[in-house]
Amino acid sequence: MQRPENLILVIFGASGDLAKRKLIPALIELYHQNLMPENFAILGVSRTDYSDSTFRTEMTESINEFLDDKDISKKTINEFVKNLYYQPIDTSKADDYGLVKNKLNELNEKLNTNGNYIFYLSTPPSLYEVIPKYLAQQGLNKNQNRIRRLIIEKPFGYNLETAISLNKKLLEDYEEEQIYRIDHYLGKETVQNLFVTRFSNGIYEPLWNRNYVDHVEITSAESLGVEGRGGYYDNSGALRDMVQNHLLQMAGFVAMEPPSSLDSRAIRNETLKVFQSLRPIKESEVKSFSIRGQYVASKIKGEEVLGYREEKGVNPKSKTETYAALKFYIDNWRWGGVPFYIRTGKRLPTKVTEIVIHFKETPHYLFSKKTNSEACNKLIIRIQPDEGILLKFGMKVPGAGFNVQNVNMDFHYKDISDEKMPNAYERLLHDAMLGDSTLYARGDAVEEAWKFIAPIQKVWESDKSIKIYGYPAGTWGPEKADELIEKQGITWRYPCKNLADDGKYCEL
Ligand SMILES: NC(=O)c1ccc[n+]([C@@H]2O[C@H](COP(=O)([O-])OP(=O)(O)OC[C@H]3O[C@@H](n4cnc5c(N)ncnc54)[C@H](OP(=O)(O)O)[C@@H]3O)[C@@H](O)[C@H]2O)c1
Repeated sequence: MQRPENLILVIFGASGDLAKRKLIPALIELYHQNLMPENFAILGVSRTDYSDSTFRTEMTESINEFLDDKDISKKTINEFVKNLYYQPIDTSKADDYGLVKNKLNELNEKLNTNGNYIFYLSTPPSLYEVIPKYLAQQGLNKNQNRIRRLIIEKPFGYNLETAISLNKKLLEDYEEEQIYRIDHYLGKETVQNLFVTRFSNGIYEPLWNRNYVDHVEITSAESLGVEGRGGYYDNSGALRDMVQNHLLQMAGFVAMEPPSSLDSRAIRNETLKVFQSLRPIKESEVKSFSIRGQYVASKIKGEEVLGYREEKGVNPKSKTETYAALKFYIDNWRWGGVPFYIRTGKRLPTKVTEIVIHFKETPHYLFSKKTNSEACNKLIIRIQPDEGILLKFGMKVPGAGFNVQNVNMDFHYKDISDEKMPNAYERLLHDAMLGDSTLYARGDAVEEAWKFIAPIQKVWESDKSIKIYGYPAGTWGPEKADELIEKQGITWRYPCKNLADDGKYCEL
């Protein structure tokens, strides 16, 4: 594993939740593994009035709270935090950027970082156009044989128009190659393993198409609710927060053609082609291709659980969906006619993200289906937790006759090595420092994904006849969502049972 060139990583929004919970813990992991540059600084920027020293103390506390690697000693933490610095500014004020530039010059001289800077935008999205512009006004965008990159957190726009506008504004001062749009799902080991499963094994690829695949199902379920982020979530919802980015990106990896190489351009060209092949859902079809839901109060194991509208920061009449399910088609030679089903939701019975490839039935089934309720093979790629791959297939039950039982060939990632599974942010930050954008979303793909989502978004927002279905917290979402998939004589896969022991399905 390579160490990046000497550089300074500037985190805008360094006093925020993401920096504390994910970014700083990921960076110390890289430091511990000797994967940070030989000379580096992490410069935190936000309005809170920290000094270098108080910032280091704060981040030490965050590391102690959020780092789950017990192998990292106190000594390593103390060494690491010496590389942290802080500059308070209001990033919405152009004049304040002179302070950042001065601090960078000072650190650059001290650390011999050759003017290599990466700017991580972990601020409210309203600042995603502002910060890059003001950095450019200070000349900090110009790479000229140096590293000058922007890492941008989701959301990339709020809808198609704002996504196009954001891309356009960024491209006024930066090259596309300098822009790294984070989709932390792509940083997950098991998502990357999809490449390896598909393209390092001769047995899967010949089956990976419309001739053998009946349908594809992608689920990302959360057992938690909005957890104090009701204000943020109420302006977002499942479609924007999960479907437009993470779920479609995963579908892109499942459906893409083999790239000509592992080069980031080659891979991202192939995922773009998938998005370009998504069959548009017309406004008149939204009702039959999508379902939205919102969790309502219930009892789980005897404990009362609040409904979404009762959560702090949420409008009591909110129509924001906490559950979204979609059916769509990819109109190309590989996938023509194969339905893709994706669903995501909060307050579902468990936390799980998985991709299920449902293979077609055998052309002529010889055995009694009564003894085998699941006659079709399934390949289940578990993205999280318990990362791994499971193949379901029929086996003869020992004894008289031909009773068939469905059995599992089950690989758990944890069996491959004792090494801790790297956190997505570790992988992504390391890649960005090395200049590898393969696992980052490209501007054109982001726009294509928004283009696909736009009619659904529009109809959900404006058409009062489109219902939002209430589902009791702790269940697998609205009952109505079953119709989306059951029309085909199949059902969603339920990795576990509903948990709610009381609560009502309803229309909201
Ligand atoms: N948290 C997550 O798990 C997560 C996951 C995915 C994506 N994201 C995205 O990541 C971004 C950051 O999320 P977060 O959860 O860390 O938000 P947050 O806790 O609200 O933090 C926002 C940060 O921005 C700073 N900030 C706000 N206005 C500023 C200004 N005018 N000038 C300078 N600094 C300013 C705040 O610091 P001061 O108040 O000190 O200025 C704070 O450090 C958001 O866009 C979010 O959508 C977050």
